[in-house]
Amino acid sequence: MKLCMIGTGYVGLVSGVCFSDLGNEVICVDKDIEKISKLKKGIIPIYEPGLSELVKKNYKANRLSFTTNISEAIQKSNLIFLCVGTPTKKNTNAADLSQIFNAAKEISYNIKSSKIIINKSTVPVATGDQIEKIISKKVKRKLFSVVSNPEFLREGEAIRDFTYPDRIIVGTSNKKSNRILKSLYSPLISKGAKYINTSRRGAELIKYASNAFLATKISFINEIANLCEKTNVNVEDVSIGMGLDKRIGGRFLRAGPAYGGSCFPKDTRAIVDTASKFKTDLSIIKSVIASNKNRSKLLLLRVSKILKNKIKNKKISFFRCYF
Ligand SMILES: NC(=O)c1ccc[n+]([C@@H]2O[C@H](COP(=O)([O-])OP(=O)(O)OC[C@H]3O[C@@H](n4cnc5c(N)ncnc54)[C@H](O)[C@@H]3O)[C@@H](O)[C@H]2O)c1
Repeated sequence: MKLCMIGTGYVGLVSGVCFSDLGNEVICVDKDIEKISKLKKGIIPIYEPGLSELVKKNYKANRLSFTTNISEAIQKSNLIFLCVGTPTKKNTNAADLSQIFNAAKEISYNIKSSKIIINKSTVPVATGDQIEKIISKKVKRKLFSVVSNPEFLREGEAIRDFTYPDRIIVGTSNKKSNRILKSLYSPLISKGAKYINTSRRGAELIKYASNAFLATKISFINEIANLCEKTNVNVEDVSIGMGLDKRIGGRFLRAGPAYGGSCFPKDTRAIVDTASKFKTDLSIIKSVIASNKNRSKLLLLRVSKILKNKIKNKKISFFRCYF
């Protein structure tokens, strides 16, 4: 199949390269001229084990190309993946969807034949409806469909996560788009990935709900760790003892400073914001956000106590002990 990835960041680059490795022709597009010219020279902008080799292999085989020319990329492709950033909007909890809406406008100027627009970016429920509205201002509805296909890869494990996903979520009520997406993912389905077709809004919400649940699990064990510290209990014992219960599971149940990274903080805030727009109070997720802030403060207090409050200008490193 002929694909283009709009946005060659973590998600666009990794999934684009992996799709090309499955035998598809993939064009990775980005606005960032420097990023694209480096990629053309084989310089990878992120550290991800195995990525450099896959880029070189598929670039050499002419299945993978890089460009800043969005209109040419759209016209040459049948499947257009949206992989742009959705950071937190300044001074709010809401997701900033400007990159999504700008990309949707650019797509709308360039559709001349039938296309499927597949959103991989993490977006609030009902964003697909807005993307469809923007594109339909310029393009007849029968020429395109908008699908939600959230990405669940983790940085550092991205190629493995893409190649062996637990599930592939495709949100669309368009039968033809669903059939094409199922065929695109068939090499992963045949290796055991579960393919789930849901409504578009359902797929959008599955992504936020999954991240919020994982953040909840981390915050839960971190709060138990707070109690362990006061009661002289090793929280690792509690993690293992709890995690062996199959209903609970041991993953994301290891105590640490607090959750961070590029997704959990922004996605927990965004789902709370979305819920409030739909007049729903997500009180558990709100508590998780507050608990996470408190956990990082407690860590600071602990370090400060160890250093007898002489924390200024100290260089501190953390390491994890495995027994
Ligand atoms: N990073 C992760 O681990 C991860 C995992 C799952 C889902 N996600 C989600 O996927 C989305 C993308 O995340 P990311 O980490 O890849 O972001 P990123 O910031 O690394 O990459 C986004 C890229 O899109 C480009 N871009 C923006 N507008 C463009 C346009 N109109 N045309 C061409 N290029 C454009 C930017 O220049 C940038 O290179 C986000 O919604 C994120 O929440 C990220």
